[in-house]
Amino acid sequence: MPLRKDKILVIGASGQIGVELTLALRKQYGNNNVVASDLREENALLKDTGPYVSLDMMNKEMLHVQVIRQNITQIYLLAAMLSATGEKNPNLAWHLNMQGLLNVLDIAREEKLHKVYWPSSIAVFGPTSPKINCPQQTIIEPSTVYGISKYAGEFWCNYYFNRYGVDVRSIRYPGLISYKSAPGGGTTDYAVEIYQEALDHNKYNCFLSENTYLPMMYMPDAIRATLELMNAPAENISIRTAYNISGMSFSPNEIAESIKTHLPDFNMHYKADSRQAIADSWPQSIDDSVAKKDWGWKPQYDLQKMTDDMFNNLKATKTLNQDQD
Ligand code: SER
Repeated sequence: MPLRKDKILVIGASGQIGVELTLALRKQYGNNNVVASDLREENALLKDTGPYVSLDMMNKEMLHVQVIRQNITQIYLLAAMLSATGEKNPNLAWHLNMQGLLNVLDIAREEKLHKVYWPSSIAVFGPTSPKINCPQQTIIEPSTVYGISKYAGEFWCNYYFNRYGVDVRSIRYPGLISYKSAPGGGTTDYAVEIYQEALDHNKYNCFLSENTYLPMMYMPDAIRATLELMNAPAENISIRTAYNISGMSFSPNEIAESIKTHLPDFNMHYKADSRQAIADSWPQSIDDSVAKKDWGWKPQYDLQKMTDDMFNNLKATKTLNQDQD
């Protein structure tokens, strides 16, 4: 049963989070009430599951036309340039990440949309933030353009809520691990690539050093967190910038050990590149007590449970593909 009479636009629906969030929202709201959109082609997993439009969020007029034409009442804005790619083209990353958000917030204000979701990231934290159990409110001096854009974006969300009453909500996602749709251009992407490489070649060349601990989360937890935050009563939401949430923290060495429980001969090599400096500027673990208190956040996956589930699903996909060949 659809949850309520809302019509949702997902921007960036073909990306790593977008695919799974679109499918989860379609389950909640009904297939036809969730319009997927992206600059890219429709992701194969979304085909025939609901409406899709090709859309450039930077074109505010076209975005506005779609919102009116489709009677949209909520927007989930997931399109962004991530940390590693952002460092290669800082101006473009800033422009894309900021202008996209401002276009959506402005349309939400003008059209009195019910809700907006926009993700922030652990990348808002910088070298001066506490490394362990980094709190919700602390010293925040991001050193990547991605982190700067996310932190500035958090304050724009807060501003639109306070000044115009736009019900915009946000989470600072840790590195996200998934098997359905690949990430692109992030510093935490190694923790996704490693599973497929382990399965295909029994080895992986890691671009971070072996003891680099980072906050991470399995995608089913991240999707559930997003839906729980968006479904929470507005009066419970005390943070209108973005919530810290925590899943697990591990190093490349630890994920390799967990993979070896399935593939004992798995081989890992380390050759740190420019992404190491980005990883070193971020905290190793996150304090999410405010999210727990406000909307009952609780993760379900630890490293081993995630590894078991990743291999189950990747193996099933591999068998399916081989059968189809
Ligand atoms: N996964 C992101 C990145 O590595 C962090 O939010 O850029």
